[in-house]
Amino acid sequence: MDNRQVADKIIEAIDSSGRHYRDSLPMIASENILSPLVRRACDSDLHGRYAEGLPGKRYYQGCDDFDTIEEMGISSAKRVFNCRFANIQSTSGTNSNMGALKSLTKPGDKITAVSTADGGHISHARMGAVGVRGLDLVTYPWDEDRMEPDIDAASEMIRSEEPALALFGQSVFLFPTPLEELADVAHEVGAKVMYDAAHVLGLVAGGQFQDPLKEGADVMTGSSHKTFPGPQGGFVLSDSEDEKLHRRLNSGIFPGVCSSYHLHHVAGKTVALSEFEEFGESYSRDIVKNAKALGASLAAEGFDVLAEERGFTASHQVVTRHGEIDSGAGRYAAAKLEEAGIITNMNMLPGDTKALAPSGLRLGTPELTRVGMGVDDMQDVARFFARALLEDEAPSSVKADVAEFKGDFQSVHYCFEPGSAYPGLQ
Ligand SMILES: Cc1ncc(COP(=O)(O)O)c(C=O)c1O
Repeated sequence: MDNRQVADKIIEAIDSSGRHYRDSLPMIASENILSPLVRRACDSDLHGRYAEGLPGKRYYQGCDDFDTIEEMGISSAKRVFNCRFANIQSTSGTNSNMGALKSLTKPGDKITAVSTADGGHISHARMGAVGVRGLDLVTYPWDEDRMEPDIDAASEMIRSEEPALALFGQSVFLFPTPLEELADVAHEVGAKVMYDAAHVLGLVAGGQFQDPLKEGADVMTGSSHKTFPGPQGGFVLSDSEDEKLHRRLNSGIFPGVCSSYHLHHVAGKTVALSEFEEFGESYSRDIVKNAKALGASLAAEGFDVLAEERGFTASHQVVTRHGEIDSGAGRYAAAKLEEAGIITNMNMLPGDTKALAPSGLRLGTPELTRVGMGVDDMQDVARFFARALLEDEAPSSVKADVAEFKGDFQSVHYCFEPGSAYPGLQ
């Protein structure tokens, strides 16, 4: 293959991936799609530009228009997240965490966080950002039935460990963290409190989850592309009045972990923030309603859905168990579902120890909601799961029906100019 053929092949694979998602049920909880206006912002000349520093204090010429964009984005983020400080430069949730960890800790400090086995994120672990910063990690005792830190045991642990930073938030995130209680204990021992809202940021901003910055978190980080429906990127937010902390948080991002910071995505985030001010409350409410309906419909079909006694979920996620601990049943189920046109991810559940052979699946409703599905449609979605996994129907016949069903859901909702959710594909 010559170089031109390689380039053509790549474009072909991009389109093929687009068609795969267009014709499937995309249910990965961390994914979302762009509105037409956000897509336009991201596909702009800003893609090739540089702007180190903050609006009005740049190291490069040519930033006047971009200064207007970033200033408006910061103001809008402060309104959307109801807080005094916003940095909208970071290029992902992990990048936000790295910047915040740099601002709030020094190497060798102790940090408490949720373990990855209990649903914590790899950036909270030694193998990720916590290790990169050289922090000493202790993980919270976990309440498996409630899928949250065990309040009494975690309080005792924070009192005895006296960390410099208490970090909360998860990747498997079904219910709000008991933050008020735990943040009080952390502050008693002089720790700062950080809440990683990567997954639930849109639900927090839409008033459908918890409000960490009002419940004791000094700093909240998040991704801008999960339940918050913007382009790939991140936020660092705080409601503190301490301007020294604001300066430290800004410098944690630049020069801490970014030089240039993807101006086109900052512009996209800014448009997404405006759309969120208009449509975010109803979008986030519908995401959670759909997740609850999906949990109930899957349970009615005979699936083992976690946390039934708590109503399955209070977020955008639903978690299902498909076999014994460490059996790899989650991996098998995810592969089979993809053959049937349903895109999910395997996930470790409490007790699992093998990340590549877990027993569960994590499902999300942000994208299905964004293309216009409602609670009644969740019953149809659960039926497709049952046909593929419980009734052992040939995946190709389920896939054909999934594609026909999905044909009615091809437009992005909750935005200023609704348009094709999967544009430009033949
Ligand atoms: C809790 C948590 N924090 C951080 C991240 C990382 O976000 P990103 O993929 O934007 O780097 C994730 C990703 O899913 C997450 O679940």
